[in-house]
Amino acid sequence: NENINLALEALLVGKMIQIYDSDSREGETDLVIPAKAVTFKDVKWMRKDAGGLICVAVDPVASKQLKLPFMAELVREASKTSDVLGEVVEKDGDLKYDSHSSFSLWVNHRNTRTGIPDDERALTIRKIGEITEKSLSGNRVRFGDEFRTPGHVALLRAAEGLLDKRKGQTELSIALAHMAGVTPAMVVCEMLDNYNGKALSKEKAKEYGKDNRLVFLEGQEIVEAYITWKGCE
Ligand code: 5RP
Ligand code: CA
Repeated sequence: NENINLALEALLVGKMIQIYDSDSREGETDLVIPAKAVTFKDVKWMRKDAGGLICVAVDPVASKQLKLPFMAELVREASKTSDVLGEVVEKDGDLKYDSHSSFSLWVNHRNTRTGIPDDERALTIRKIGEITEKSLSGNRVRFGDEFRTPGHVALLRAAEGLLDKRKGQTELSIALAHMAGVTPAMVVCEMLDNYNGKALSKEKAKEYGKDNRLVFLEGQEIVEAYITWKGCE
């Protein structure tokens, strides 16, 4: 698939792409870029032109090694001593488009002040990319030495088994990172519509991609390419 190859080439040189999950899921398009390549200009770009949450999806193996919890599990655990946490925690069937959310911790790098300015969020994001790479290369790293929570960058923990288990932008972006050979820590941010209060439609997201020379991928083409790639690995 020519489109997939163009996306892999873009990711390899640290460029932004777009991923639309599917009509039967969220029906949303995210801007997506490898965490290690992010500059403050990319954070500004996502904040102004996409407008959703700026999150970093992390590979399942790295997430486990770094001991990143799923937020819902953390809240469920803490609900043993707090009624309100037991009441609010995500339950089966709560999400209308998937079985569980991929949210993990919200973090700031320890070398940030408030953590919210574009350059500080970019630093946190790049460092998440670096610690993911170190962890997957077999280095012993302790997440808390470098990061604190709460913070301004949301971590997303990709499902074990990736696309076999879940087909959110979390897993789609990590699968692509593996195919491209870049560190599997990927920034994702939903594209929102400035005029109607909704997520940007697929058509408008595609138009934006054309205007800004971004490769636009749909979840299903990533799933198919990943199956082929895994078969050849
Ligand atoms: C965090 C989200 C977004 O939808 C993001 O695209 C990742 O989530 P998912 O993997 O569920 O699509 O919930 O802003
Ligand atoms: Ca999504």
